[in-house]
Amino acid sequence: MANRIISVVSGKGGVGKTVTSLNIGLALHNFGEDVVVVDADITASNLGLHIGLYNFPHSLQDVLNKGLDVEKAIYMHHTGLRVVPAAINLDSLKADINKLNIVLREIPADLVIVDAPPGINDEVIKVLEASDEVLVVTNPEIPTVTNAMKLSKVAESLKTHVQGVVVNRYSGAPYELTPEEIEMMVETYLFGIIPEDYIIKESIYNKIPVVAYKPYSDAALAFKQIAAKLIGKTYQPPRFLKLKRLLGLL
Ligand SMILES: Nc1ncnc2c1ncn2[C@@H]1O[C@H](COP(=O)(O)OP(=O)(O)OP(=O)(O)O)[C@@H](O)[C@H]1O
Ligand SMILES: [Mg+2]
Repeated sequence: MANRIISVVSGKGGVGKTVTSLNIGLALHNFGEDVVVVDADITASNLGLHIGLYNFPHSLQDVLNKGLDVEKAIYMHHTGLRVVPAAINLDSLKADINKLNIVLREIPADLVIVDAPPGINDEVIKVLEASDEVLVVTNPEIPTVTNAMKLSKVAESLKTHVQGVVVNRYSGAPYELTPEEIEMMVETYLFGIIPEDYIIKESIYNKIPVVAYKPYSDAALAFKQIAAKLIGKTYQPPRFLKLKRLLGLL
């Protein structure tokens, strides 16, 4: 039985929900937590593709539509990360999402991280209703932040605890909103900042979350800090990080 169901949502698509879900999940696993990441993006699922999981006999749709035991749809990546993928074939576009809350709760893990679909629609509402907590992901630009703000309000109205906003793809350019401006606009705590980093694209190409692909890259450190905060801890990067990087030791 899942103790904490934390969904990763965003008003707008393509902002980094899947990358964030997988990396927080793997960081939590590496901290010794009992965690499973679920792809709840039924219509445009792609979590499996991020980690090279293409052929899987059972998916979230089988659990929702056919009453399959959710345990049978849990797969382990070679990094140790456990996931419940969603099917990507056209037959699987429909799923009985009314059962999502029961299915997520039945997952045999302490923590469940849910990669939500984009937008503010019925599917997302079901994910929010099924979750205890949410992290709202945004990019530092006005249209994305506006959607994050709306979604955060919807979550609050559903009594799902908004842990905060995660600003992804931040580079500090003058044309970007600052994290402080975003925090004010979304009216929720600034939970973390993930830099714009080519290493994320490289890690997706190599099908390994960046937390395992380049554990001491700035992006990986940011994910570890967010994961630690979720469990009430702080992550301290190794000492003399810059020097060690320069010397090629990390
Ligand atoms: N911090 C980052 N630095 C550089 N590129 C990034 C970063 N985060 C995400 N990306 C790029 O953005 C793409 C989309 O990320 P991701 O699939 O996680 O978004 P999403 O919110 O899950 O999208 P969707 O709404 O379609 O499910 C990635 O494939 C990657 O190329
Ligand atoms: Mg996604």
